[in-house]
Amino acid sequence: LSLFAASANAQTYPERSITMVVPFSAGGPTDTVARLVAESMSKDLGQQIIVENVGGAGGTLGAGRVAQADPDGYTVLLHHIGMATSATLYRKLAYDTLNAFEYVGLVTEVPMTIVARKDLEPTDLKGLVEYAKANKDTVTVANAGIGAASHLCGMMFMSAIETPLTTVPYKGTGPAMTDLLGGQVDIMCDQTTNTTKQIQGGTIKAYAVTSPERLKVFPDLPTTTEGGLPGLQVGIWHGVYTPKGTPAEVNERLSKSLQVALKDPNVVARFGELGTVPSSEADATPAALKAKLESEITRWKPVIEAAGQYAD
Ligand code: MLT
Repeated sequence: LSLFAASANAQTYPERSITMVVPFSAGGPTDTVARLVAESMSKDLGQQIIVENVGGAGGTLGAGRVAQADPDGYTVLLHHIGMATSATLYRKLAYDTLNAFEYVGLVTEVPMTIVARKDLEPTDLKGLVEYAKANKDTVTVANAGIGAASHLCGMMFMSAIETPLTTVPYKGTGPAMTDLLGGQVDIMCDQTTNTTKQIQGGTIKAYAVTSPERLKVFPDLPTTTEGGLPGLQVGIWHGVYTPKGTPAEVNERLSKSLQVALKDPNVVARFGELGTVPSSEADATPAALKAKLESEITRWKPVIEAAGQYAD
């Protein structure tokens, strides 16, 4: 009967508001992407999607919350590449990454920017590398905890310059940005969805983008390759997940709604202003996200093992 009830509910889904868990603080890049997508999906679904920020442990606390939620389609997770890296970084995760979720689809892939407090002396990436090496005992690098995109990019930066630096973890790069603006922390690698406004406003310094090509929003900002760090390329893909056991019809309905949202002119325009583009219709599907997560776990495992940085 419960199976029948579940599939019957799937036909009338959604009948009430949906919680979208964002595993980082409000005001950060993940939150920005989530609120834009949630607002548009709400219109298509005819039910409110309420964003709930569950920060901590580099995004794994929020992911764990959704892994434990009822598989009824009323709790979803919007998370990024950290879903893949955490599978290697955390030896004691509260969930089994490849068996605790169902898949809805990919949302966007966001480039990262290497930025600093505006009065840091170096004027280009080569100078920043020299500065970091010369001041390795005092330079501080902000991130959103082990498993965050900012942590991954910071780890790649330290590996590339072969110099470990002091990291300062926050519950999201929203609050980290506040300290960068205040000069309490020196550098950060963060997504353009969080740094674009500050770079354009000149309130932080930008050294490079981690994309293969320069960005339309920052035509004068060199790539890491141009700045002498060709290995420092990373794009922060985001996906929407539901708890294991959520009916396939529900995941499909959510995927259809996500595909509509990613074509919403307001979402497309806002993503463009923030240096990113929506995923394609074909990528905003359960199969595409499943394949992406599996391949990314495999891809980043050796990079993380080479850096030797794990969550205790
Ligand atoms: C991260 O650094 O992984 C997150 O993007 C931080 C955030 O969204 O606040």
